[in-house]
Amino acid sequence: MTAEYKVQGDVAVITMNNPPVNGLGLATRQAITAGLEKAQADAAVKAIVITGAGKAFSGGADIREFGSPKAIAEPNLLSVISAVENSSKPVVAALHSIAMGGGLELALGCHYRIAAPGTNVALPEVKLGLIPGAGGTMRLPRALGVEVALNMIVSGEPVKSEILAQVPGQKLFDKMASSPESLAEEAVAFAREVAGKRPLPRVRDLPCKHPMGDAFFQFARNMVKGMAKNFPAPVKCVDAVEAATQKKFDDGMVFERELFMNLMLTPESRALRHIFMAERAASKIPDVAEDTPKREIRKVAVIGAGTMGGGISMNFLNAGIPVTMLEMKQEALDRGLATIRKNYESQVKKGKLKQDKYEQRMGLLSTSLNYADLKDADLVIEAVFEEMGVKQKVFEALDKTMKPGAILASNTSTLDVDKIASFTKRPQDVVGLHFFSPANVMKLLEVVRGEKTAKDVLATVMALAKKIKKTAVVSGVCDGFIGNRMIEQYSRQAGFLLDEGATPQQVDRAIEKFGFAMGPFRMGDLAGNDIGWAIRKRRSQERPDMKYSKTADKLCQLNRFGQKTGAGWYDYQEGKRDAIPSKLVDDMIAAHRKELGIEPRKISDEEIVQRLVFSLVNEGAHILEEGIASKASDIDMVYLTGYGFPVYRGGPMMYADQVGLFNVVQAMKRFQQNPRDDAKFWEPAPLIQKLVAEGKGFTA
Ligand code: NAI
Repeated sequence: MTAEYKVQGDVAVITMNNPPVNGLGLATRQAITAGLEKAQADAAVKAIVITGAGKAFSGGADIREFGSPKAIAEPNLLSVISAVENSSKPVVAALHSIAMGGGLELALGCHYRIAAPGTNVALPEVKLGLIPGAGGTMRLPRALGVEVALNMIVSGEPVKSEILAQVPGQKLFDKMASSPESLAEEAVAFAREVAGKRPLPRVRDLPCKHPMGDAFFQFARNMVKGMAKNFPAPVKCVDAVEAATQKKFDDGMVFERELFMNLMLTPESRALRHIFMAERAASKIPDVAEDTPKREIRKVAVIGAGTMGGGISMNFLNAGIPVTMLEMKQEALDRGLATIRKNYESQVKKGKLKQDKYEQRMGLLSTSLNYADLKDADLVIEAVFEEMGVKQKVFEALDKTMKPGAILASNTSTLDVDKIASFTKRPQDVVGLHFFSPANVMKLLEVVRGEKTAKDVLATVMALAKKIKKTAVVSGVCDGFIGNRMIEQYSRQAGFLLDEGATPQQVDRAIEKFGFAMGPFRMGDLAGNDIGWAIRKRRSQERPDMKYSKTADKLCQLNRFGQKTGAGWYDYQEGKRDAIPSKLVDDMIAAHRKELGIEPRKISDEEIVQRLVFSLVNEGAHILEEGIASKASDIDMVYLTGYGFPVYRGGPMMYADQVGLFNVVQAMKRFQQNPRDDAKFWEPAPLIQKLVAEGKGFTA
């Protein structure tokens, strides 16, 4: 049973108990209705209290049942709420800590509500691309007034109970408890007080009006439309609340249900629900038990105070963990330190960081030219030049100086982590921590698991990632790990598209319209085209059979590295970031086509998007087959948090599922016929072929 039933004198108390947040899964719903029946049958019981054990009243639906038949099995939430509302004895909800989603809807079905101060109250369904589906849009406006309720429903954001208690005329709370500790006792006393009162008050019977109905809702709809852009749910929230003011309660409930069911089927909601689960799944590693003991990380060292070293250090300073940065020369340290200062100072100027917090953080930072100063660090992250020889020297030095059990991490973006580990006598303590630039901003952290990396090292860095607010995804060792290995194929396609007849601006526009934050050419100009150039030079030695367009190399030979040199795929004006199409680049591309004997053709936006996105999908499938990623959703998290993939499409693998893998394969076969493209690459990965044959998708 996931709720307890106890009788205290003449009051029955039903306490939901389904850790961690009393999700309203099937067993919990059954336990509530069973409790209600018992209480109705017991003549000694005059009133009923419903509350939650532990950390919440209730956080709403049980996410473990998402998508399973259990989620909607009877008694479903609507039936439970109706059983509560129709109880012949008064039911009092006693809210504390968290009352969200279905949990709040359940409380709204009760006759009375008493809340502890500090309770987080929300209807967060919109964050999953939905509207509340168990009467939330009908009852919350009646209890709180149309405007306050609409704000909560459209934003999904929690509001504290003591703030809601001050809303003029509110009927959400009949009473505020004096403290969370005394809530249980006060709720029983309150239930006793109201035990004899009839008729039983019901939120559904309250009036629901806005004095300037039409104008208000028109205004709200326009506002929400502008902000919600690619997401349909927020506007539907407005529609539902408007219906609450216009329709009879029961008709409104039917309307809400219809909107809810329709939204469930939208790709946007499927994407958001997928991401919600994917985020949680990413922190779990199949063969590393959740209770694996973790190493303590109290002090961190960072080798190299350049672009990445500085950003990486800031993450730990922000989390209150002391950092020592090491460099070879004092000037480099001074430069690194100055950059960190500048970063923080700009946050202070913008009012995002308080002066004392800034000073506190800088106080946690020290610098050194001497490895001996690092010896008591629990974790060291190397972020020196991307050269194996340099990494070797650093790791040999670390092996000599770091205390036993310290974690030795490398921020390398392309080098072999196993090889780096072999420079030490403790490869089990070595792991890749691949931050993304700017490291103090970007959410993604690829945790690169070496062949010998110990499980407790992995468990430790995954927990640490959470502490510094990163989304950590585990990748095996391979060239480019998950993200950059896939982006290489995407970049190759972008290059072929230019050779065949597209312009950089057409490619960027098409993929940006699809929803990417930035197209490949604007991105190259931002990151520096020379970085890709260096990688291609190395790869063309390692993999001479890898075919790619030469336009990017030609661009670099013109010193057009991007924004930093004032010119790249686009032209840039001094001090501005606007990408201006370049005649010179267009001519360069045209001349190159001539060299190759290519007659340019008109390429549709659809083809551009498919070739760029499906190249990610095919490489992603290989990455799964090889076990580099342990699940498709991990690949999606990498692309959503590190590469600007549109959130409402759920990541490349989820998007492929939504398009249908059968259709993806058909497209790949078409691209194989294109003489300018790489037919071998477009051979659908065996995993995709297998899934198609089984009628399945990546993300089931
Ligand atoms: P950077 O050139 O800005 O910084 C490297 C720093 O390391 C310099 O300050 C240099 O003085 C210092 N250094 C070099 N040899 C050293 C040694 N033996 N001991 C101590 N310090 C030494 O380079 P960046 O961009 O910060 O890259 C560092 C690492 O991070 C590379 O492995 C790179 O592949 C990786 N990375 C870079 C990303 C980027 O976007 N820049 C993204 C992800 C990873």
